[in-house]
Amino acid sequence: MQYDINLNDARIGYKPDGDFSRVLFVEKSRKLNPRGAAFSSYSPAYISSNEQLQSIMQILKPAGKNVLAVAGSGDAPLFFSAYGAQHIDTFDISYNARVVMDIKTYMLKNKFKFYDYVHILRDVQTASDLLDCASGDVVMRAVTDGTLDYLRGMRGCKIFMHTSNGEIACFPNATEFAAMQQNVSGRYNFIWSDLFDLSGHILNKKYDIIYLSNVLQYVNAASDVTAVLNNMRAHLNADGVIVVDSLLQSLASARHKKYKTVGDNVSSWADLIYDKAAMTMFLKTR
Ligand SMILES: C[S@@+](CC[C@H](N)C(=O)[O-])C[C@H]1O[C@@H](n2cnc3c(N)ncnc32)[C@H](O)[C@@H]1O
Repeated sequence: MQYDINLNDARIGYKPDGDFSRVLFVEKSRKLNPRGAAFSSYSPAYISSNEQLQSIMQILKPAGKNVLAVAGSGDAPLFFSAYGAQHIDTFDISYNARVVMDIKTYMLKNKFKFYDYVHILRDVQTASDLLDCASGDVVMRAVTDGTLDYLRGMRGCKIFMHTSNGEIACFPNATEFAAMQQNVSGRYNFIWSDLFDLSGHILNKKYDIIYLSNVLQYVNAASDVTAVLNNMRAHLNADGVIVVDSLLQSLASARHKKYKTVGDNVSSWADLIYDKAAMTMFLKTR
């Protein structure tokens, strides 16, 4: 199902001290996500990606292609834009992914300078009231009316988080930033949906690239990952690619095992390929 905003549900577990770790990994997921995955409808969103998006774009070569990407921090869709993708749809289980993504696309469309872009992201990252922080006026202009109501209801909740090492990890270089400014024309289409229901929201749509990196890692059973990939297959153009994961070195071997099983499960229609340079695993249709 695609959700409606429910502020009571949204505020559950957000603590005034800003500790959202329990929201993210235990309380909210049990309450709101029937599959018990780590993220839920209102989990805090990452302010920045920790993936090697530059290297990943070198393999995917998205110029002229249609892409479906997890919204996450918004960085993956933005890199697809920078590298010339023709059309990009985004999805995420968490509504907060839409918020960070809309703030970024607003700043790019309105040609904010790189310094201001970074500065504002740092500011909103720690804010417990996005409408009343130093960058509140930018946020208000960036989001939809519905999101504005949501943010009014979320005062006191820190809806963004940083990557595990505490740094904003993946920024575009000067060329990529300029390309984002040039190619981003407004908000991305956002599908607020659990991965398992996604296929029902995109019905007859097909893509050349489906970007699920660092999403499937939260789905424990290889059989569930296989089910998602089999559903997504119907939405792939000929020669399409599904990015399954981008593996941090330290996590690679444990996760490789799961994906090996997944690769065996889908071997009738795709090859599982690991690109060492970008530390990225993807399925290529036969
Ligand atoms: C670790 S982040 C990485 C996202 C993206 N690759 C990036 O670099 O920004 C994982 C994202 O997947 C989303 N997510 C996790 N489980 C999901 C699910 N079952 N369905 C849809 N989205 C999910 C989370 O809300 C989060 O935005």
